[in-house]
Amino acid sequence: MGCGSGVLGIAAVRLGARAAVAVDVDPAAVAAARANADRNGVGRRVAVVVGDAAEGAASPGRYDLVMANMLSPELRAVAPAVAAGLAPGGVAVVAGLLVEQRFDVLAAYRALGLHEVGDPRTDEGWTAVVLSDLSRQIAGEV
Ligand SMILES: C[S@@+](CC[C@H](N)C(=O)[O-])C[C@H]1O[C@@H](n2cnc3c(N)ncnc32)[C@H](O)[C@@H]1O
Repeated sequence: MGCGSGVLGIAAVRLGARAAVAVDVDPAAVAAARANADRNGVGRRVAVVVGDAAEGAASPGRYDLVMANMLSPELRAVAPAVAAGLAPGGVAVVAGLLVEQRFDVLAAYRALGLHEVGDPRTDEGWTAVVLSDLSRQIAGEV
């Protein structure tokens, strides 16, 4: 979600994902992501979609891995779509937030049952967090 150049979706399939859906509200980003997927030989495995991820543009589907790389208000806005799009046992990587925004963003995801797993990665004040639905795992759905 918020694919920009498409680098995360392209990397995912290059690293072994069967397929990826990349979504962005910006048509220029979508055009760049499509061109980059083709250039990297994965155009058939990376579906690039223009639309608002908060409105479910990347759905339908449930995914083992959902990555959202946006600013903090946008990360909060897409939280319901991230939660709805995660398959049981799936993992979400949420990135693009500043360290001081971490607790606000985490609260939006926690309210939807997604909790931080592992340690956050921080670089020059920017943080990425890894989230999963622990309740589904504890309930034995996974
Ligand atoms: C930080 S950039 C992503 C950069 C990307 N990871 C890359 O390396 O090129 C954030 C992107 O999120 C997109 N975006 C913001 N809000 C969005 C939303 N609600 N749905 C989809 N895309 C969104 C922006 O258009 C922008 O391209």
